[in-house]
This record gives sequence, structure tokens and C-alpha cells, in this order.
Amino acid sequence: MTVNTALRDYLLTRRTVTAPFLSEPAPSPEHLEEMLTIACRVPDHGKLAPWRFIVYEGEARRMAGDRLYEIAKAKWPERGEEQLEIERKHFLPAPITIGVISTAVPHFKIPEFEQLLAAGNAAFNLCHAANALGYGAHWVTRWFAYDDQASAALGAQAGERFVAFVHIGTAQTRLDDRDRPDPEALTTYWHG
Ligand SMILES: Cc1cc2nc3c(=O)[nH]c(=O)nc-3n(C[C@H](O)[C@H](O)[C@H](O)COP(=O)(O)O)c2cc1C
Repeated sequence: MTVNTALRDYLLTRRTVTAPFLSEPAPSPEHLEEMLTIACRVPDHGKLAPWRFIVYEGEARRMAGDRLYEIAKAKWPERGEEQLEIERKHFLPAPITIGVISTAVPHFKIPEFEQLLAAGNAAFNLCHAANALGYGAHWVTRWFAYDDQASAALGAQAGERFVAFVHIGTAQTRLDDRDRPDPEALTTYWHG
């Protein structure tokens, strides 16, 4: 058995870089294609590929923010302009964001729950792929992943839902680590 030390070290130290610290340069088209290829290489019961991706880049990021601003303004009229302006900036400053959508539907054999998990796998592999190619990544959902109108405005079809918006860009910093769960406290052995 050979230990893959590079992979092990990565898994032991991987860290999200939050969106405010992601900036240009954006991934090249080749890197983007490779990231999406890696994102698709995940455990997927039934090989259904029950996910799809929506890419927001360039001017589309600003347009997406404008749509969220309008929806938020109608939804929360009591909010002040300063608070609402935040909505315009969700897809900035990271140069690219990839929405990961679960396309799970009832299936005779594969529970929808498992299809949802497969989409989550794709989202996390996308984060790993970004890291592998030298970029930082931040998986967020925020309110708009749970709001039908906002999700539709961002490209979800009826019955679909976003499991992730993965912001990707060049990391401007490495964040301090956070406390990590103690695996021992989370593990028991089953004895019957
Ligand atoms: C399903 C899911 C949704 C998340 N949504 C958000 C979010 O909306 N905003 C946010 O700041 N972090 C969100 N996170 C957490 C970050 O992706 C990240 O895990 C966190 O910043 C901790 O960093 P770490 O990945 O280095 O542990 C979400 C994570 C998951 C798995």
C-alpha cells in the first residue's frame, strides 16, 4: 500500500477561503473545464448524475446581484437601502461562481435523498478541484438557495434546487484554521 502523502496533507489541511478574499485572476477556461470534470467524478448511486452546473462570470455576476436586490427589496420592504445593497454583491468579488443544482426526481430504485447527496458530492469535489488547481473556493447557500423566486431567477427550473454556490478565485489570504470536530467524540463502535 502506498500512502499518497500529497493527497493526505491536502485533506488534513484544506480550508475554505471566504468570498471576500477571492479575486482575479479567474480560472482559465481550461481550468474551469477541468474543475467541472473533477466535480462530476463522484460517488453517485445509480449513475444518474442528478446535478447540473450554472456558471456566473463576468457581467452575469452583476446581473445576478441586481436580480437578488430586486427580489429582496420586494420581499423585505422594511429593509434600508444600505442593507439591500448587500444583495448586489453576493457574486462579487469572486471572479466566478458555480451554482450546483440538484436535479433529483423520484426514481424506482434510488431514493431522492441519495440523489441529493450525490449533488453534494459534486459540489465538494468542485471545491477540491479548485484547490487542486491552485484556487480558493467557498461553498455558500445563503437565503437565495432556499427561496423559490430567487432560485428561479438564478436559473433553477421547477423541481430543482441549489445545493451550492461555489465561489472560486485566486486566494488573497489563507484564513486561520477553525476548531475542527473531534472524530473520537463523533464515533462509536457498534457491538450488537
Ligand atoms: C451546504 C452548505 C452551505 C453553506 N452555506 C454557507 C453560507 O451560506 N455562508 C457561509 O459563509 N458559509 C457557508 N457554508 C460553510 C463554508 O462553505 C465553509 O465550510 C466554512 O466557511 C468553514 O470553512 P472550512 O470549509 O475550511 O471548514 C456552507 C457549507 C455547506 C456544506
